[in-house]
Amino acid sequence: MKLVRYIANLGYGSRREVEHLVRSGQVTDDSGRPLGRGELPSHEVIRLHGEPLDPPFPLTILLHKPAGYTCSTEDPGATIYDLLPERFRLRNPGLHPAGRLDKESRGLVILTDDGALSHRIIRPKSSCAKIYRVTVARPLEGHERASFSSGGLMLHGESKPLLPAGFEKTGTHEALVILHEGRYHQVRRMFAAVGNHVTDLVRISIGGIPLPADLDEGRWRVITRRERDALGV
Ligand code: URA
Repeated sequence: MKLVRYIANLGYGSRREVEHLVRSGQVTDDSGRPLGRGELPSHEVIRLHGEPLDPPFPLTILLHKPAGYTCSTEDPGATIYDLLPERFRLRNPGLHPAGRLDKESRGLVILTDDGALSHRIIRPKSSCAKIYRVTVARPLEGHERASFSSGGLMLHGESKPLLPAGFEKTGTHEALVILHEGRYHQVRRMFAAVGNHVTDLVRISIGGIPLPADLDEGRWRVITRRERDALGV
């Protein structure tokens, strides 16, 4: 791939705009030498306006999603892309959530441009467990674990029962729920199916990666090597 296409794919502008940047000497190596269109040194040495480029492909990031944002690119309201650098929206291939959270839910969202990684996280019957901290309106009654782990719980409007899900009560109104699939509003609908109502939902882990304690709501960072290894990809 040539320099202009490579930089344009990172979201820095159209090919024509990047072409102009290259021709005017604003794309250099780390010694300040202007790069020609035919060159493509390693990502780390390229500078644009003297600054290193955004992270290379493939890129995977962890986002601490606040309530009030959707995981869609098309939603007219606030979306998780509003929490990321403007350029990330323009990358090609694009960054997509590997498993969405609904608008009012909070917690860990993994975004990646790596199709194989995404597939491993979200494919049906994925071995990649997602853990949710749930707060409910009415006291837990003690039968939830049996219902959720049975493999027979049917959600309203669906034709296939849910896979067995883990359940651990952590308070009168609080529990951890562990899923190996991701159906539409699954946790909320599971509690509705047993006569309760979810008032707060936080995803605290995906595939062995915990929501980082030092990642404030609304912030993101690139996944570490160790976290990626935890996913086994
Ligand atoms: N279950 C839900 O109900 N909502 C989510 O966002 C994720 C799982």
